[in-house]
Amino acid sequence: MKDVQVTTGGKLYLAGEYAVLTPGQTALIHYIPICMTAKACLAQETKLSSDMFAYSVDRTFDCNYQLIQASIDTFEAYSGQTLPDFELSITGKLERDGLKFGIGSSGSVTVLTIKALAALVDLDLSCDTLFKLAAYTLIKLGDNGSMGDIACIAYEKLIAYRSFDRQKIAEQITTSDLESLLDQDWGYEIEVLTPKLRADFLVGWTRQPAISRDMIQAAKSLIDQSFLKETEKNVQITKQALLTADKESLKAGLQKISDLLEGLSSAIYVDQLKALKEAEQGLDVIAKSSGSGGGDCGIALSFSPEASRELIERWQARGIELLYQEHWIEVRDDKP
Ligand code: PMV
Ligand code: MG
Repeated sequence: MKDVQVTTGGKLYLAGEYAVLTPGQTALIHYIPICMTAKACLAQETKLSSDMFAYSVDRTFDCNYQLIQASIDTFEAYSGQTLPDFELSITGKLERDGLKFGIGSSGSVTVLTIKALAALVDLDLSCDTLFKLAAYTLIKLGDNGSMGDIACIAYEKLIAYRSFDRQKIAEQITTSDLESLLDQDWGYEIEVLTPKLRADFLVGWTRQPAISRDMIQAAKSLIDQSFLKETEKNVQITKQALLTADKESLKAGLQKISDLLEGLSSAIYVDQLKALKEAEQGLDVIAKSSGSGGGDCGIALSFSPEASRELIERWQARGIELLYQEHWIEVRDDKP
């Protein structure tokens, strides 16, 4: 009998968090290959298991399994036929010692479930369709995010994501069928970026779980036109700097975005994230909080091996764990 196995990873915001909640704003989001795995096979009875919970379920509604079950419903509607019975087992909690990393596990589980079912019934899904199906599922469940996480996790790359009007799509979900909704242009843009400069991309984990949903709820009313305009300007500067290997503009753009986040709400830069940022002092490094803040992770770009080593030591001394690191190499454009 056919067995399939698929994985999905997490994501972290480089720039544009909070602003991207407003349709038309851009965020830069990087893929983090710390993965969850789904195994699926056809079976006599449907059985869904996740290592998050000590029990399995079938397709009868269960609160804990809601995301997985809703993703299955979406895929079934998309495939246009009743799914056969199957077993689906999800492992790889994005956490340690019972503390979540905060790299996007709820988004990831939705993408993962849809990917697993597509593999099981031999259906090829483009990254874009995968994104739309996962976003559709989350919007239907009332998720209040920008869907930037889903875009990044579906594409598995560093992306520039321009958000769409989720309210409008939420209304259409109640009136249109999935097929016609998928055919529509939702108004988002996803552009895969290849950074062109040599750098270490470092992720520091504060070990303090933050709940994005609550953070968004608290900060939403503080977002004004000037925050949006300044953030967009600096996201574009940062994006261009990545693509043209302009280190100084990259540092300046990210610094400005970090300042804007600090000014938005005092709940974002909690002490551990302040420490994560302050560790850059005197080093050829730019560090900032990532995503909704309030805990979880921050990121840094470091431009020399010595600076990376020093930064990681400073982080460790403050109880910030290096969760992930990646080396970017210089990419020279071939001159014609
Ligand atoms: O904390 P994270 O990594 O889930 O990021 C949240 C980013 C926000 O812009 C605050 C919300 C969103 O969904 O875009
Ligand atoms: Mg977070």
